[in-house]
Amino acid sequence: MNNNIPLRPLQKLCALCGLNKLFLHPQPEGGLKKPLTLHDFLLLAMDTVVSGIRSTGNLHLGNYFGAVVNFLKMQKENNCFFFIADYHSLTTHPKPDDLHSNIKQILAEYLACGIDPDVATVFIQSDVPEVTELYLLLNMNAYVGELERTTSFKEQIRKQPDNINAGLLTYPILMAADIIIHKANKVPVGKDQEQHLEMTRRFARRFNTLYEVNYFPEPDAYNFGKQLLKIPGLDGTGKMGKSEGNGIFLADSPQEIRKKVMKAVTDTGPQKPGEKPSEPVKNLFTIMDVVSDPSTVKYFTEKHASCEIRYGDMKKQLAEDIIKVTDPIRERILQILADRKYLARVVSEGAEKARASASKTIREVREIIGYRPF
Ligand code: TRP
Repeated sequence: MNNNIPLRPLQKLCALCGLNKLFLHPQPEGGLKKPLTLHDFLLLAMDTVVSGIRSTGNLHLGNYFGAVVNFLKMQKENNCFFFIADYHSLTTHPKPDDLHSNIKQILAEYLACGIDPDVATVFIQSDVPEVTELYLLLNMNAYVGELERTTSFKEQIRKQPDNINAGLLTYPILMAADIIIHKANKVPVGKDQEQHLEMTRRFARRFNTLYEVNYFPEPDAYNFGKQLLKIPGLDGTGKMGKSEGNGIFLADSPQEIRKKVMKAVTDTGPQKPGEKPSEPVKNLFTIMDVVSDPSTVKYFTEKHASCEIRYGDMKKQLAEDIIKVTDPIRERILQILADRKYLARVVSEGAEKARASASKTIREVREIIGYRPF
């Protein structure tokens, strides 16, 4: 364990009573089962972060700068659970072989980006069956009306009208189960997931109210106080997506990246000095802002303002700057994919850690609901 973890003030420490007098408050009957170790103290002092990524499609630049870069910072200072949401991916009925290879690919990509399984808990959702039990239990307190009104559900109905399965309807409940099963306080999510997180808070609150307990914390969105970073696609409008065909993937070869960037949508060029860039061009500048040197951005911004810009030059530079970020990652992805032993160890250790945390919650939740031993 990393020794440089900043300790938070001790008032946040007590997991037993939620109060701030860890060393003074009365012990539960029979005392603590096990004395707390230093490790326990450190974990208790940290916030718990949970985040999942669906195992559909490879990681693209938008995922990397919008999410993964934040994960890398967070993993050092929080008790992090990062997982591959492979149950969620079943809503689109993947073929069995694809399901497995998608999970493996995305796992290798996470690790190649620098997610450290010795620091964070990295696991596959379907290795933690406890989450499905909590999902079932939460289903009883979720109302069909509120699920039907969810934006993502309405979008999915439009996207896959022939497969409006119940899993799509209850998607936010499964996501809530993922989060609260580890009693997370913080969830790093993009804008498109904010409504789901709001629902998570509501389900947690509702459980607490129904059973008159203060058991589940209500997790907050976590974005380092900055605006959530949105990386646009290369097709002129909207954000970079997995399925929109407008993305640059971390696993793309340099040749593919050059080809994609050179084909990116632009316009016929600025007509008057000082003109604001059109949306497609602004999008290229936004990507440049994150991958290129500030002097490069300044150079092309000035060329645009003076109507001297040549989009071809800008794209060439942009492609090379993207490659500088992605290529080392791509090479690590390949190395990791080739190392089956390593992947198997990461997955089984991650599952063990995640299940330890999840099964404790399930035990307590069953007790709260009223399941008692005979
Ligand atoms: N719904 C998220 C997405 O589509 C993935 C996800 C599943 C998730 N469970 C989660 C994200 C829990 C954060 C926390 O991106």
